[in-house]
Amino acid sequence: MTISLIGRTIGESVTLKLNETAAILRAKGDPVIHLGGGEPKGRAPIDAILGAAALLSSGEVRYTPADGIPALKKAIIRYTEEFYGRSPAPENVMASGGAKQAIMVCLQAILNPQEEVVFPAPYWVSYPEMVKLIGGVPVPVVPEDGSFIPRIEDIEQVLGPYTRAVIINSPNNPSGAVYPDSFIAEIVELCERRGLYLIMDDIYHRLIFNGRQPVNCYKYAKDHTESSKLVVINGVSKQYAMTGFRIGWAVANRQLIEVMTNIQSHQTSGPSALLQHAAVGAINGIQSSVANLRMTLENNRNVLVERLRSFAGVKIEEPGGTFYSFPDFSAYSKDSVKLSDLLLEKVQVVTVPGAEFGREGHLRISFCGSIKDITEGIERMKWVLDPDAPNELYIGDRKLVRDWS
Ligand SMILES: Cc1ncc(COP(=O)(O)O)c(C=O)c1O
Repeated sequence: MTISLIGRTIGESVTLKLNETAAILRAKGDPVIHLGGGEPKGRAPIDAILGAAALLSSGEVRYTPADGIPALKKAIIRYTEEFYGRSPAPENVMASGGAKQAIMVCLQAILNPQEEVVFPAPYWVSYPEMVKLIGGVPVPVVPEDGSFIPRIEDIEQVLGPYTRAVIINSPNNPSGAVYPDSFIAEIVELCERRGLYLIMDDIYHRLIFNGRQPVNCYKYAKDHTESSKLVVINGVSKQYAMTGFRIGWAVANRQLIEVMTNIQSHQTSGPSALLQHAAVGAINGIQSSVANLRMTLENNRNVLVERLRSFAGVKIEEPGGTFYSFPDFSAYSKDSVKLSDLLLEKVQVVTVPGAEFGREGHLRISFCGSIKDITEGIERMKWVLDPDAPNELYIGDRKLVRDWS
């Protein structure tokens, strides 16, 4: 079998793979606790269900414009006005099959082979693979001091003649860090000055804690014309607990959106009509589910941080948003893949190795599940790792006795 050079360089999505592993173990009856997940557990908003159901019951589910139905674009425009104080034209908006596809199509529209895309580490697992898929070169930037907050000097230092774009994701997957406004201002200024595309992956922007408001990158932009290279990505997956609906979008200059739409029209013909109608319902409907989700997540975050702080040797920075934490377990192992495997094997706790996000020694631990899962999961992890933990552990009515060093 002959596989393309690019095909051979692409790894599987570890996070999706872990979902599968957890599901298989659960189906076997194993008492698995999934702390590796990337989706809220709640139900989709009723307005989303009604939106899709109305179209489905009409029986007329057809192709849509490749950049999205007018009603969805209108909803995205209203959303952009509400959260960004900007009124894009319909030609500045493209709906896509999730934020993931919006980013991918954007990269396909702007990147030539061998050109570079810069992003701070830790980063979302898909950025390097997406860049590689187009024959580009991913350039992760690891701050020297190990901080989760990037420094503009470190980013500026890696920019060169081949740099085409910078991707910023705040609140950040996997660290949960919310980058300060001062950094957002600096990166917008830097990209404008250097003529680079700035892709703001704002998929978690409303899932932000401690009373903070979502950051608006446009506030710091000087160029508000059609030559602006600022691209804002968002979607319904996380804020409305609609991961399976696969609707996201991009807001950018007209020329870029036109090219992205052309590309998407040949790839998928655009996202599913049904799910676009669901997204319209979610965006225009009652927003209380977002506030409830944020409150639940903030509460979960507090419990998780408290538990992890009582875990000797583990260093945890309090996440300011998302539903991920990224504690440092290097006191126990510098090899995060081995550590994650050990936790799965010994106590059926799923975590994601930090290596996947460009930071060894860390594990990504999600807090989008139940408090029970969080507390029990951490207790099991402690039992495996912490020498001071009690020798015995009960998982349901199964008694485990520590028998390894
Ligand atoms: C940082 C980041 N961007 C984009 C996405 C993709 O979201 P969607 O489900 O809309 O494709 C994810 C999903 O995990 C993410 O974590």
